[in-house]
Amino acid sequence: MKRLAPILALGVLLLAFAGPLAAQRRVASIDAQQGRADNPFTTDEDVSAGQENFVSRCASCHGFDGTGNRGPDLTSGIFRHGNSDRALFLNILNGITGTGMPSVRLSDKEMWQIVAYVRSLSRVSGPVDGDPRAGRQVYERAACERCHWIDGNGGRLGPELTAVGWRRSATHLRASLLDPNDDIDAAYRQVTVQPRGGEAVRGILRNEDSFSIQLIDSREELRSFAKTDLTGIDRSGGSLMPALTGRFGDDEVTNLVAYLASLRPE
Ligand code: HEC
Ligand code: HEC
Repeated sequence: MKRLAPILALGVLLLAFAGPLAAQRRVASIDAQQGRADNPFTTDEDVSAGQENFVSRCASCHGFDGTGNRGPDLTSGIFRHGNSDRALFLNILNGITGTGMPSVRLSDKEMWQIVAYVRSLSRVSGPVDGDPRAGRQVYERAACERCHWIDGNGGRLGPELTAVGWRRSATHLRASLLDPNDDIDAAYRQVTVQPRGGEAVRGILRNEDSFSIQLIDSREELRSFAKTDLTGIDRSGGSLMPALTGRFGDDEVTNLVAYLASLRPE
């Protein structure tokens, strides 16, 4: 038993350190890449291997051809979070805090192959159709600023659009306008609550726990309700955003998309 004790202690120590050590290895191997300016995996095979991982892990947001969807177009050759291979590597590995870009952790080689594929996309970029200046007028006529803000001006019911041209692809922008219910951001879910003996209140869900629910009503006021005071909560409401379909012509929609895509402050 006496002999066993140190062995047991060692075992416990190993267990305690194995987890953190594994995490450290990961970071150390990235640090080793820090001095490296360029991607070590850029052959055609690397690019195809990268494409496979891209299709399974990135395409849902960046589109199968990288031209973007909920995530931005990656084919323009301009990456505002960093243009170097290393910046791309780290943005994919760590995700981009405060945005919808998640962290993706694969082996270093696989990560570099994805970087090689993303780089290869830059050759196929194309400009957005339409006239942004005419689109701006559509934006004003359609009273989009009732719910959206650009550079601090406008309503707050919908998401800020100041840099939406950086964040989203033209494809996604067009889809958001024509079919807002298709892909609603979880932060903008609409709910309607029915207070006992009062009028129903519709708004955007801000918070909810077992006892209460808070929403922002159409006047941008925060309303809080105790669940015991409600006779119902309806979550089936789609987007608060009215679809543009039918209200504007094709050219006007294209111009509006061009305007939104041009919102790219440095
Ligand atoms: C859940 C959606 C989602 C997934 C999955 C996703 N991304 Fe993103 N990605 C985004 C969003 C949203 C942004 C924009 C962040 C911002 O600037 O607001 C982004 C940004 C980026 C950027 C930075 C672009 C720039 O201009 O600097 C790169 C590079 C990128 N993604 C690559 C990838 C790759 C490669 C994968 C797969 C391994 C991936 N993303 C998976 C949503 C996603
Ligand atoms: C009644 C309020 C309201 C009005 C008016 C409105 N929107 Fe929206 N919009 C929203 C809300 C809420 C969302 C988020 C939910 C969703 O994705 O549908 C949204 C989402 C969007 C998005 C997607 C943003 C992103 O980051 O993906 C775009 C682009 C957009 N709106 C543009 C417009 C334009 C252009 C107009 C004018 C034609 C407009 N909206 C009018 C409420 C509104």
